[in-house]
Amino acid sequence: MQNQIDTAIEHLNNDQVVGMPTETVYGLAGRINSAESIKRIFSTKDRPFFDPLIVHVSNIEMAKSIFKNWNSTIETLANHFWPGPLTIVAKKASHIDDMITSGLDNVGVRMPNHKVALELIDKIQIPLAAPSANKFKKTSPTTKAHVESEFGKEVFVLDGGACDIGIESTVIGVEEGFISIYRPGMITKDMIENIFKDQSIKVEYKKSPVAPGQLEHHYMPKLDLTIASEEHNLNLGEYNTWIAPDNAAICARELYSKLRELDNGSNSKNLIILKEKFKSDQAWDGILNRLRKAKTVDNY
Ligand code: TXA
Ligand code: MG
Repeated sequence: MQNQIDTAIEHLNNDQVVGMPTETVYGLAGRINSAESIKRIFSTKDRPFFDPLIVHVSNIEMAKSIFKNWNSTIETLANHFWPGPLTIVAKKASHIDDMITSGLDNVGVRMPNHKVALELIDKIQIPLAAPSANKFKKTSPTTKAHVESEFGKEVFVLDGGACDIGIESTVIGVEEGFISIYRPGMITKDMIENIFKDQSIKVEYKKSPVAPGQLEHHYMPKLDLTIASEEHNLNLGEYNTWIAPDNAAICARELYSKLRELDNGSNSKNLIILKEKFKSDQAWDGILNRLRKAKTVDNY
């Protein structure tokens, strides 16, 4: 692995981008202090410049250097959830390139809970900007092979195995007395509220100030995707079908691999069947958010 990490660092120092495993999904990483590698992230993904990038750090001091202010709310969140699948959006330090934040005052930061990502960032000693390593609007990758199927051999990819969480981080905006959930994930609203029990901090779902996470279509497989509850009256013979497992953590871990597998089925359309009760369980918020953007037909 040390060899692989050294190779990745060589690419990064040459202003290239590399595939980086995290516990959520694989990222396409570039150095935050290289405008050229940041540009390359957008061009490799065919991603529009209005969609800001998340900055990945390997320790708290690094995180502090990205934000303008470090307050007790951010500190509490970081202590509880980092390293882990939570991205904190707050005012950026002035040295953070506008290309990373799409010209916003705010920047998203996260400390991934993956040995290979942490080692890479620790060794290069520079935070890495990384969106999910897929073409814009397409299904995110959870293995090295997925990343290679997106970009071919054009991009060097570190192998960190299959991602444990499987869907992207929860993205939250932190303001005075207020936390906004812009993108739900496996860290739920309840989990965030629980750590602020004795303080007057409101946690609410809110539209992000930027459009992209909110794009109606995202995370899409190649074939039409229908999502349906277990009481459907569809003809299963017409679909490549996956019945989601009952456990949200297992479902999230398998989700993007299954979306890719369904695309290789013998039918021309895909179907995912979900239990009705998942709708009222926060553990499913992130999964349902992704599926509602990935679907073309919704019977759920
Ligand atoms: O788990 C993850 O978050 C993965 C891994 C690689 O860390 N990354 C990821 O990045 O999903 P991406 O670029 O595919 O999604 C990042 C989301 C986008 O919807 C973007 O709009 C939002 O985070 N975001 C990033 N910076 C933001 C900012 N300054 N303000 C509001 N939203 C922001
Ligand atoms: Mg993405």
